[in-house]
Amino acid sequence: MSPVEDVTEIPWYHSIDLPGGTTKGVPSKSPEILARDLRNLDLPDLTGKSVLDIGAWDGYFSFACERLGAARVVSLDYHSWGMDRRNPMAKWTTPDANDLHAYEDYWERPGIFDFTGLPGRKGYDYAHGELGSSAEPVVGDFMTMDLAALGSFDVVLFLGVLYHLKHPLLGLERLRSITDEVAIIETEGIIDTGSYAKFIAGAELNEDPTNWWVPTEEALVAMCRTAGFKRVDIKVGPPPAAKRWKRIRKKLRQPFASPPSSAHYRGVVHACS
Ligand SMILES: C[S@@+](CC[C@H](N)C(=O)[O-])C[C@H]1O[C@@H](n2cnc3c(N)ncnc32)[C@H](O)[C@@H]1O
Repeated sequence: MSPVEDVTEIPWYHSIDLPGGTTKGVPSKSPEILARDLRNLDLPDLTGKSVLDIGAWDGYFSFACERLGAARVVSLDYHSWGMDRRNPMAKWTTPDANDLHAYEDYWERPGIFDFTGLPGRKGYDYAHGELGSSAEPVVGDFMTMDLAALGSFDVVLFLGVLYHLKHPLLGLERLRSITDEVAIIETEGIIDTGSYAKFIAGAELNEDPTNWWVPTEEALVAMCRTAGFKRVDIKVGPPPAAKRWKRIRKKLRQPFASPPSSAHYRGVVHACS
């Protein structure tokens, strides 16, 4: 087990059940929400499979796959592992649209990342030790790293990563190239008709400047197919109210009217090689 300061001092992202108790993740990653999210992935039988978890952060989904019988689990991350979220330089909010930081690439900001000390991997390392996990952590930017060296996997988790990519289609092509059976993609989505992705300037989505593109369900499926996946199965689509609105709008012949309520949702697809 790696040396860790008092476990309560780790700024946990995921809530993970450990022998000594459950870690205190952020509110959107509470034990209940994570259990629901795991069910929503509709994972295939993982017995004997190799799994790559891209954007693993504290490792909740990597450890879950191990528990579910995967023969090999590789946890990949980069930015979250390289930063200490308590560092004032790492403050995410850019509330003023005229802020100089509003249009920059946050991940290129100097003074935030330490890819040698990996301050953001303390939670993963601690949980890994406590669980006696055999998952293999790999530090790398999925968009630029050597994928041949990484190898290919039966099942690849791409959870909460797609909308963080400046070049999502390239990301999906890279994902396809290392997926032997199925890539499980969970993403922020936009509720609307048509195949398009909304460009997020600055930090307007969740006050998080690392978000770039939010696709409609149609765009997500089309992009996966364009990236070379043979079949795309929708596991979680827009909520029923949005589907109803889609039909009403067609009838009204107002294709561009916005839905009355929240325009975003979280979708899950299985993209099959
Ligand atoms: C919103 S979090 C999702 C964490 C986890 N997969 C989940 O669903 O709870 C996105 C994670 O993806 C990682 N990530 C984003 N882009 C990446 C890239 N190009 N290479 C490696 N990791 C990346 C971030 O560092 C972060 O840990």
